[in-house]
Amino acid sequence: MATFEVKNLSLHYLTRFGAKVHAVSDVSFEMNEGEILGIAGESGCGKTTLVSGLMGLCLPPLYPTSGDVIVDGESLMGRTPAEIRENVLSRKVSMIPQGAFNALNPTRKIKDLAMDVIESHEENQSKKAMYKRIYDRFELLGMDTARVLNSFPVQLTAGERQRSVIGISTLLNPKMVIADEPTSALDVTTQKQIIGMIFDLLEKKVFSTMIFITHELPLLRHVADRICVMYAAEVVELGTAEQLVFDPRHPYTKALMSAMLSAEEGAKGRKPEAIEGAPPNLVNEIAGCRFAPRCKYAHPECKVKKMEIRIVGDRQVRCDYAE
Ligand SMILES: Nc1ncnc2c1ncn2[C@@H]1O[C@H](COP(=O)(O)OP(=O)(O)O)[C@@H](O)[C@H]1O
Ligand SMILES: [Mg+2]
Repeated sequence: MATFEVKNLSLHYLTRFGAKVHAVSDVSFEMNEGEILGIAGESGCGKTTLVSGLMGLCLPPLYPTSGDVIVDGESLMGRTPAEIRENVLSRKVSMIPQGAFNALNPTRKIKDLAMDVIESHEENQSKKAMYKRIYDRFELLGMDTARVLNSFPVQLTAGERQRSVIGISTLLNPKMVIADEPTSALDVTTQKQIIGMIFDLLEKKVFSTMIFITHELPLLRHVADRICVMYAAEVVELGTAEQLVFDPRHPYTKALMSAMLSAEEGAKGRKPEAIEGAPPNLVNEIAGCRFAPRCKYAHPECKVKKMEIRIVGDRQVRCDYAE
């Protein structure tokens, strides 16, 4: 049995004007313990919305449309936010959020924020015992522990704040960790530190199963076992990291890879190659393949025929013409 199963999950936002934004559409995948899945796709394709669904925490204006998420055989859909907070978050599924600064309450010291996490899940813990546990964990993470724990978020560097967020969100050894663009908006040196720290936690077995989300596909080559690429709320390709980076089959994955690789080469003087056009509006009913208007391989029928995920070799691709 898979540790983590996502079954035909669809989620929508209800806008003030009564329109529905279909931000996640029919997403399915399974993960086994010890696996690292990367999720890539450009901004606005539904990655962060999917994370809310994966935690079972859909708060208005976000609503589940259909489907389910199953962790260790337990369904997360249809449960109240209070129940999810008490029984699922931090212990089963924990998120390392995008933008550590906003994630930390600025009026409390790091040690108090960490104690809140323990207290909200475990009863009758003495302050001293909790502090020791937090201290040991931050030591394990190679932090300047006493200073960091006794600081307010604003007194720390961006890197220390992000590492504190990681320390706090993995304190209760969650089964599954979801990192949502943990390195975006950080400088390259800090990015490397954060990636290094995540690997360190995996090696020290603080957690073993992870979803790593980024809009940078090439970064995932070094991090993930498998990669899932999203476009306009849907999964368009899912396969091993090797397959997706070195031999992409969906036209969008191909375009994303070549745009990213030429962006890397951009540092050496070449102009990055952008993907022409824009993704569709997720409010409208979309006929045909969502990528067709931007696809250089599109056939006339691609604009009218809905593309389903199909198996090509041992990967999944949402394109009838991918080989
Ligand atoms: N509160 C909201 N109300 C309506 N639409 C939203 C809301 N939050 C996000 N969206 C829309 O949902 C889509 C997916 O957004 P998001 O999950 O944040 O994408 P990503 O994380 O991939 O950048 C986007 O079209 C975005 O504009
Ligand atoms: Mg996001």
